[in-house]
Parts: sequence; C-alpha cells; structure tokens
Amino acid sequence: MIEIQDKVFHLKGETYSYLLCVNDFGQPEQLHFGPPVRTEDFEGFLCRPGLGWGGSLLLKSGDTASCPDDKSLEWSGSGRGDYRESPLELLGSPTDLRFSSGEIVKTPPMECSLPQSHGGEESLKLTLSQRGLRVTLYYTPYETALTRRCVVENTGDTPVTLGKCMSYLVDIPGEFCMRSFHGGWIAEAHRRDTPVGEAKVVLESLTGASSHRCNPGFLLYEPGATEEAGRVFGFNLVYSGNHYASAQRSLQGLTRVMQGIHPANFRQVLAPGERFETPEAVLCCAAHGFGELSERMHRFVTDHIIPPCWRERPRPVLYNSWEGCGFRFNQRSLLDLAARAKKLGCELFVLDDGWFGARDNDQAGLGDYTVNRKKLPGGLEGLAGKLGLDFGLWFEPESVNSDSDLYRAHPDWVLRDEFEPIYGRNQLHLDLSRREVRDYIVENVTRILDSVPIRYVKWDMNRHSIALGARAHENVLGLYQVLDRIFTPRPEILLESCSSGGNRFDLGMLTFSPQIWCSDDTDPIERLSIQEGLSYLYPQSTFGAHVSAAPHAQTLRSTPLSTRGNVAFFGCLGYELDLKPLLPVERQEIEAQIAFYKQYREVFQFGAFRRTPTGWQVSRGGVTLCGVFHRLVHAAPGYERLRVWGLEPEKRYRVASLTQCIRVGQFGSLLKHVAPVNVNPNGALLRLADAHYTLKVPAEERILSGAALMAGMVLRPLFRGTGYEETQRTQGDFGSDIYIVTEVCV
Ligand code: DGJ
Repeated sequence: MIEIQDKVFHLKGETYSYLLCVNDFGQPEQLHFGPPVRTEDFEGFLCRPGLGWGGSLLLKSGDTASCPDDKSLEWSGSGRGDYRESPLELLGSPTDLRFSSGEIVKTPPMECSLPQSHGGEESLKLTLSQRGLRVTLYYTPYETALTRRCVVENTGDTPVTLGKCMSYLVDIPGEFCMRSFHGGWIAEAHRRDTPVGEAKVVLESLTGASSHRCNPGFLLYEPGATEEAGRVFGFNLVYSGNHYASAQRSLQGLTRVMQGIHPANFRQVLAPGERFETPEAVLCCAAHGFGELSERMHRFVTDHIIPPCWRERPRPVLYNSWEGCGFRFNQRSLLDLAARAKKLGCELFVLDDGWFGARDNDQAGLGDYTVNRKKLPGGLEGLAGKLGLDFGLWFEPESVNSDSDLYRAHPDWVLRDEFEPIYGRNQLHLDLSRREVRDYIVENVTRILDSVPIRYVKWDMNRHSIALGARAHENVLGLYQVLDRIFTPRPEILLESCSSGGNRFDLGMLTFSPQIWCSDDTDPIERLSIQEGLSYLYPQSTFGAHVSAAPHAQTLRSTPLSTRGNVAFFGCLGYELDLKPLLPVERQEIEAQIAFYKQYREVFQFGAFRRTPTGWQVSRGGVTLCGVFHRLVHAAPGYERLRVWGLEPEKRYRVASLTQCIRVGQFGSLLKHVAPVNVNPNGALLRLADAHYTLKVPAEERILSGAALMAGMVLRPLFRGTGYEETQRTQGDFGSDIYIVTEVCV
C-alpha cells in the first residue's frame, strides 16, 4: 500500500515501512526503512539543519540545511555538493536532479525484455528532472519486501551518454557489516563478512553473468546480529549480467548503498527521446536477525519471482544422467538406468549432456541440436515413451563449439572482439543480441520440446561472455527474450537453470526457472556451506540438490549415504550417480530416502526455513523437520541439544529421529565389539555382510512441550568410544540426523 501526504511518501508492507519525503530543495530524502510506522511519524525522522561544516557546499547560500553531502538521500547527483558516490553518471556532465512529480500508478511493466517481479499492483512514481534529462524512480511495495528501479530519459535535443545508472540508492543510518556470498566453480555461495566503514565495500561481477564469484544478493547487519536478533537489511537484483553494489559509511553515520548494472565500460548513448531502464532491485529489512530476514526474502521470491505456475508446486524427485554416465550412454543403458531409478522411486529421468550432434566429449557438437542416432537410434521418441518416468532434457543453447555444424555455417554468430578468440570449456559464446541467433536458438529448442513430451529442461551455460559494458547488457537482454519466447508459452515445463553449477544463481533467472542447480559439487559437507549461503536470500525450493556417489568426485571425501540424502532433502531432491553398482543395502536406503522425502516433500521444499545451531529446519502445516549435521567428530564429544525454532510453548510435540541404517563394513576390525563372531576386517564375509545387512538404530522418540524444545532438547550422545550401543548415535565424521517434530493432539 502507498500513502502520499503532501510531499511525504509512505510505502507500507506487512513487515516494514519505507518513508521518504521531498525536502525544501527538491531532493528525495530517505526517512525510515524499518518496522511499520504511521505516515504522521515522518517528522520524527527528519534530519534537522545540517552542520554546514568546513568544505561543504550549500545548495542555498547561508542555509546549512541545504548541504547535500550530509543528507540521507534516495537519489543523488554528481559534482553538485554530494561528494559521496553517485548512482548516475552522464559522461562529461554533472547531474543535479530535482523533484518534479510524485504519484501512485498501476505497476508499469518493463519496456525492454528485463524480467520483473509479478503481482505488484501499485507503484510510487517519483519523477526528478534537470535540463534535458528525466529520471523516474519506481517503488513497488510487496508484503515483505519492496522493489525499486529507475528509468532515465533524454528529454533534450542532443544525445547524452550514460556511463552508469544504478537501480537504487539508499542512505541508511547506522553502523553495519556486509554479508555477501562468493566462490567459484564447485565452491559457490560461501559466506563472507566485511565491516562497512569509510573505505567503500564493493561487490561486483564482470564475467557477463551474475556469477559464482559474487552473488548479486547481500545483507547489511548491525554488528552482533544473530539468527534471531539485530537489524538486518537484504538487497538483491533481478538481473543475470555484470552487476555492481557498494556500501560506504559517511561522517554523519549514514551508510550509502547502491546496486545495479556494473558501470565498467558501460556506455549507453541515449538519442533525444530515448530511455534506459535499469533492472529491478529488491530491498528487505528485519528487526530480528538473519532468520527473519531470510524468511521475508524467501516469501518474496516464492510469491513474486518464481513463475506463478510453479509457486509452491511440488517438484519431482529426479534422476540425472550426468555424473553416472557423462557422455557414454546409449538407448539400452539409459532405459536400464531409468528402470532402476523408477524402482527406487524417482519420478523424472533427465538426460543430460551428450544426446545431440557429435557431442561425445566437450570438444564438439555444441550448437547442433539433432539427436545423435548412433547413441539413440530410436531418437528421443524411442526413449521418452519407454522410460516409464517423466522425461527431462539438457540444453546449452548460449554457446557453440567451433567444431560444430552451427559454427561452420555461421562463424560470425559468436561474440567477438578484435583479438584472437579465447575459449572456455572449448566453447565460444553466441551473440544473443542478434535477432538471427535468437531465432536459431528458439527454433531449435522448441522443435525438440514439441517433438516429445518433455516435462523438464536443464538450461546450462558454461562459457562466460567476453563482451563488456553495454554489449554485455544487450546479450543478457537477448537471453531473456529467448527464455521468454521458449518458456512463456510452455509454462508446464519445469525449467532448471545451471551455469557450471551455480554460476548464475540470481533473481533474473528465477523469474523463468523455478529452480537452479546450486553447484556441481554434490559433496554433502561442501553443500552445507553452499546451500546455507544461498539460504540467506533464496528459498530452498530453488535449490537443485542431488545425492551422488562416494568417494566424491570433487573432494574424494567419503560420506554416509544418509548424510548425502539428509542434506539434499533441504532442496529439490535428485539422484545423480551410476545406479548399477549400488549394493542391496544402498538401494534399500535410497528407496527409503525417496519415500520419506515424498511424504514430507512440501515441508522440505516450501516450509519456512531456519538456520539453527545444529543445522537447518523447515516447518509447514504443523510439521517441523530438523537436520543435525556434523563435520569432523571429536573423541569424548559433549552433549548436543536440538533447539527447535518457532513452536508454541504450551503445546506438546512428538520428536522422533529418522531411523538410521548403519553400514557394518565401516567398523572393520572394530566389529568384534559389536558381533559375537570374530570377522576378518578385510575378508569376503564382511564385504558380503556389508552389502546385505545394516544395523538399524531405533528412532529416538520423546514427547515434550514446545517451550522445552525451543530451549533445547538434549540428544542421545554421539559415539563415545565405548563400543556399540543402541542408545547412542553411532556416527563418525560427516554423520547426520533428521528429527521430525509434530504436534500431539490431546
Ligand atoms: C555443467 C553442469 O553444471 C553439469 O551439471 C552438467 O550438466 C555438465 N555441464 C554437462 O556438460
């Protein structure tokens, strides 16, 4: 809801108020972004006449209240007295934009192909102008977050060149640290904390994509904030290309934050009458810690970013062929895998890379979307109909191998500069700003999608752009057009985007693809950091999370199958390993995992998510599922408590752990402590027993009040070095448990 009282503007969500006003000098001033207040309260937030100290410039001579440098602003110019970073740069000219109008409008759609949040009804439109230039700031309030964007228009009669145009600027009073998410291939979204002081903190990507180096989403928090306490702000950008964000504290204790398309090499010439639209940005706040902030961001993403048709729509348990087969498969082997996957309980079979052209390795064939009949003599028809499972298919349409028919026919279709081409994974990037390239992709992908019933598409992208500045932006706009043309008419196809894992995990992609492959790293211990990093800003329904083989391909780490499952449960579960060599005990365990996940799928995928002292929890419809995860164990471990979040103190709850199946093989020569027989730790008998038999640890079950569970229930002890007992959790390194908490009706 939006309220306007004279020149005070109030954007109200369920959980926040965003108050601004236009000051006597025509500048939009930020008054309050925090817990809900009344519009009349605005006076309490007005900054009184400035200091007018030493080197400051005054917009009105002698009036110390007119110093732009010490104001809490919503937008600012450059070269006109505000020495802080400006969100807008016109090459060669200062900017000094002043208020000309403010009105409530029906939320306007983007004019270009930039994606946008949906479900917004009304927006505040603030127009600022100077001679020859108009800047329009749009604010759209949603329940738990608001979005901002900006449009710049050349209203003069000569061209102007934009060197930078951010999506928003906001000055927030207070001292903050920044929490941001960084990494690289197989190491995405690792959390980093940086104090924000007078030295500017900058987040950026210049890879042509939002990138795993630096996710566009970040948080600002008061030092000392925890999951449950402290002021936290969250920011994100609905964009998948080069991005920039900065935060810097001023002498007056205002932290200036801005975010948008990266200005490096960005030149956008606007002819008279032309406009430039920035991507939409999301701003969110919480007074009670990171947990509350994440919950609010999750709700916004679920309700206003994910394609409406996939909002809280259960996602299938999938089997993906990549880690199990790579490029080596044929129709027979795939049908065999599908039969096994089906038996285990999978619902969707995804054929990954290798099904088209001469794609027997990653050096050839990319771009040629004709089925490889040597591998698949019956074509996709011969496969899809016989799988007994829904069918999903991999594409990587934005790139091309130079050893491909597409490249031989159209060598000029790739993004080029004046230097020798440089390759990434033997690929070049197609120039998506060209109409004929976009048409080729749309025609070829849709031809396949309409040839057989395809329920799911994995859209991969492994070659980053070399294009700089505005050209890189045009490519991102081209990508959005392609995605829109292919998938808007086919909303029933579940799109999972991927970029060497999570190299393009952003809100722009999420407006098309309800889920994103978090990382090629499926080692569950690595995933604890990756999924946790992403969880600050994105709901777990957006995480593609698979169980793969151990030892793990990226870390050589061996982890229990239970932990691989328990971590992947907190996302959209899939299996990605060769199923043929599975031992009978592994097959049984996977079957049980899938059955359990299906029983609680909605809770795992759409439940309210919390990070807890021992792991993660999700709750929905009276059920709370808690994951307790361990990395390295220590001898003589202390007591561990399960602290459940968000229960009713007076109510009573049943807590039950998921039954654990313990592999006997792992005990080796220790087995004699458990079994009455003396078994050779390297012998065939133990191998045989290990393949067919597990120790079943009965579930730990208790009934307790919500108050006790929230205070922390003491769990059964971990393995204490005193031999096997059913009353302890017999887990070594990388062990984990799931606890199911349900209300007891009396
Ligand atoms: C990179 C992706 O991240 C993988 O999951 C897989 O799809 C490969 N590409 C296939 O080449």
